[in-house]
Amino acid sequence: MTKTILVVGGAGYIGSHTYVELLAAGYDAVIVDDFSNAEQRVIDRLVELTGHSVRLYEGDAADPRFMRSVFEAESGLTGAIHFAAYKAVGESVREPLRYYRNNIDSMLVLLQTMADFDVPDLVFSSSCTVYGVPDELPVTEMTPRKDAHSPYGNTKRICEDIIRDAVTGGNHLKAVLLRYFNPIGAHPSALIGELPIGVPNNLVPFVTQTAAGIRPELTIFGDNYETFDGTCIRDYIHVVDLARAHVKSLDYLEGVDGRGCCEAINVGTGRGNSVMEVVQTFEQVAGVSLNYKIGPPRAGDVPAIYANADKARYLLGWESQLTLEDALRDAWRWQGMLSTKEKE
Ligand code: WQD
Repeated sequence: MTKTILVVGGAGYIGSHTYVELLAAGYDAVIVDDFSNAEQRVIDRLVELTGHSVRLYEGDAADPRFMRSVFEAESGLTGAIHFAAYKAVGESVREPLRYYRNNIDSMLVLLQTMADFDVPDLVFSSSCTVYGVPDELPVTEMTPRKDAHSPYGNTKRICEDIIRDAVTGGNHLKAVLLRYFNPIGAHPSALIGELPIGVPNNLVPFVTQTAAGIRPELTIFGDNYETFDGTCIRDYIHVVDLARAHVKSLDYLEGVDGRGCCEAINVGTGRGNSVMEVVQTFEQVAGVSLNYKIGPPRAGDVPAIYANADKARYLLGWESQLTLEDALRDAWRWQGMLSTKEKE
């Protein structure tokens, strides 16, 4: 029997890629999105990529009446993925209440509605930010979580705790908490990708915009860290690999006997790359020379973090397949698509 998954935030960056992978794996999927950080044209692209019409419910995932109406209309739901969170770290410091309301209310409403309609399987977008500045590398799921440095990070930790309590409390739920490392890249078709609003905060969109001439120069935030080349180290994961981890999580949850399971799982490549390596690899795959300078460190940056991804391998049968080169090539191709659109 085909399983139907509610993709909350399915028009966004990771949600849209996951929607494509769900359909490719034989799942049926339904999207909820309020387009607060996504564009309507993503839906047309999803139709193009999958060859199927999209069942879309436009509205606020934190509105219990709206979410009830979606579950009533889609009576065959078997699971849900929660992507509908605000994610800009700096903005969350300036507007904490908006972040807490959106990220936590939407989670509470989804959990309650799933419990009311007896929909068992949940995958949640958590983040490696829950590890703070880790005492050990690579980080495993047993590495202690630390106090978050931002309201954004706090919402991830709080949502993890809420889900764990809801599962333990006998709400007939099963959950996987996917702790993403640094998602980058775009679909190889260049039909969907990340749509940063304004000046990007994240490294890769800043790199591609600089190479495209939209930004004059990239600033590398610090080259005096205690790392092999002095720049920060992260675990960059291709968004298509990350999307597949959601599909594998749903497969896993379906096979779990009984309810009450709640597993936190790292989603990374298991490799750390420095900012300088990202810049150099980008220059190679794009065949361009990037204009950059070294600036002061950015407040709150962790010097180095990368995943031990063993748990994903043995529990989900998932591991990353795409390389940093693949991700940067796809990000560059996507930037080309965006720049062409802007000129039209
Ligand atoms: C990567 C590296 C920067 C921009 C954040 C969130 C995290 C997760 C992913 C999101 C760092 C350096 C960056 C620039 C630079 N959540 N950099 N110049 O901070 O690791 O993680 O995004 O949804 O929770 O915190 O990612 O891409 O911002 O930075 O040198 O212009 O690139 O210092 O070392 P980060 P990032």
